[in-house]
Amino acid sequence: MCGIVGYIGERDAYPILIKGLHRLEYRGYDSAGVALLTDHHLNVYKCKGKVSKLEEFVHQKDISGTVGIAHTRWATHGEPNDINAHPHFSESGNIAIIHNGIIENYLSIKKELKNRNYKFKSETDTEVLAHLIEDIKINESVSLPEAVRIALNQVIGAYAIVVISKDNPNEIIAAKKGSPLVIGIGEKEFFVASDATPIVGYTKNVVYLADEEFAVLRRDGTFTIKTIKNQTTTPYIEELEMNLEALEKGGFPHFMLKEIYEQPRSIRDSFRGRLDVNGASVRLGGIAEYEKTFVNAQRIIIVACGTSWHAGLVGEYLFEDLARIPVEVEYASEFRYRNPVIHENDVIIAISQSGETADTLAAITLAKSKGATIIGICNVVGSSIARATQAGSYTHAGPEIGVASTKAFTAQITILTLMALQIARAKGTLSKSKFHELLQELDAIPEKVQRVLEKNREIEALAEIFKDARNFLYLGRGYTFPVALEGALKLKEISYIHAEGYPAAEMKHGPIALIDKDMPVVVIATQGPSYEKVVSNIQEVRARKGNIIAVVTEGDTTVKDLANYVLEVPETDEHLSPIISVIPLQLLSYHIAVMRGCNVDQPRNLAKSVTVE
Ligand code: G6P
Repeated sequence: MCGIVGYIGERDAYPILIKGLHRLEYRGYDSAGVALLTDHHLNVYKCKGKVSKLEEFVHQKDISGTVGIAHTRWATHGEPNDINAHPHFSESGNIAIIHNGIIENYLSIKKELKNRNYKFKSETDTEVLAHLIEDIKINESVSLPEAVRIALNQVIGAYAIVVISKDNPNEIIAAKKGSPLVIGIGEKEFFVASDATPIVGYTKNVVYLADEEFAVLRRDGTFTIKTIKNQTTTPYIEELEMNLEALEKGGFPHFMLKEIYEQPRSIRDSFRGRLDVNGASVRLGGIAEYEKTFVNAQRIIIVACGTSWHAGLVGEYLFEDLARIPVEVEYASEFRYRNPVIHENDVIIAISQSGETADTLAAITLAKSKGATIIGICNVVGSSIARATQAGSYTHAGPEIGVASTKAFTAQITILTLMALQIARAKGTLSKSKFHELLQELDAIPEKVQRVLEKNREIEALAEIFKDARNFLYLGRGYTFPVALEGALKLKEISYIHAEGYPAAEMKHGPIALIDKDMPVVVIATQGPSYEKVVSNIQEVRARKGNIIAVVTEGDTTVKDLANYVLEVPETDEHLSPIISVIPLQLLSYHIAVMRGCNVDQPRNLAKSVTVE
């Protein structure tokens, strides 16, 4: 939530900052702002709305300056308006700051500053920090970096900040705790951003700041990193592997559609080098050292949020079924505050696309403190969750920009399948022949996903029929129950149609009361052990005149006679059915949202990276 960018060097800062904000807009788009420093002038432009609004706003204004900071906001404190937009200023207007995170004790600091006649323009926690830094700088007669350091020792909460000052035109200061921050190191220039996407076009050399570290980046190309306790740290400079192409739409009208279409590749990338069909082996290098821990685990607890939580539910079926390890799947936000019972021989799997979700991170910290083993499944390399876990596997889905997650979900399930297979073999709970069969089937999945994508027009036609529905019900059973949840979430997120996902059999304990001719009911009725049961559930919906859209296995005739509409998908093993059956649901949501005129890539009120709890 909230994206921040900073630049100091010899180039014009504005184009770099605006391009960076566009890349980070997935983190929030309530307001945008930029501050540029020129010969002791600080020009600040900020307004409610998206980055494109800001670009219109600065038209014909002075945008010169080789030092600057910029921000795209997901509102936490104070409504989205021009005044609450970042950057914020100190009392004198000399210091400007951008911030991602929440200063929890801002009210008590604000009260104290108010008592000393400080005036506040906004309702934000960030402005409090700007005043506090200036107050310390003046009253303790210290340098700006030192004032930032002292101020950060007084705040409780999460922050990634970048500070510039009229009095210090040759340096910018960046600090972080809880929220992510990356520094790009160029030739006599520095870039700072919430993730590496604004940086990758300029330099491949980056430093990920650790919590409670702050960096002073100078125009002459020198920099220092210290902890807020004033200990100098040796920066670890890493090389970025990201490519620029992955950050563009590549001819698609929306990132979401591009990402849906990327799935044959992203799934393959996730198992490439890990799955060897001919050699009949699976090897996730990241967890190799922990195989024994898994085998001896009393229990696996999967913690995640949103779509990643749905992938976790599929993981529960996979691990219990294949590796015979009991699994609990927890919303990270509930787990962290529930005083959960965690044992040393529990394995925690944290799943997160962004690797920055605050609740998931907090759940990891809690489980770690109880001595459990923590394994991560993340998409963003170098992200906070990837760093906080003891081991894990990256999904290699490539950058996911559309706020509604698609390719990350199928990549997460791919990794969970590989993990469950690897552990099942190590534990001896899966026969060699079934193991081999599943490897072959997983290897065939990208081509089958491609075949589902070829049904795009058919799905678009269905979307046309249902685009004005007010409610949707999604039903699935066994492995496809989490798919029903995910299908409903996709529709809610991007088209704002109310939708519920339910276990097909559980429908009769409530949702069945909602069914009439106006209720579209999406049923995932692919072949598998519960197929017959799902057919009975379809009969129940049909008897109440529900409008049934069924996702079935190619060649199915039974459901064809019962459902109003059917979408055929290629046959696959039940264990892999979620990957195949979610694709038509992603496309259905996408087309409905486009037809309703919704912003599919940036749905209202949402953000892709939720760094507040
Ligand atoms: C937000 C996003 C979702 C995502 C969830 C968890 O709500 O909009 O798409 O599933 O966060 O994010 P994570 O990065 O931890 O997977």
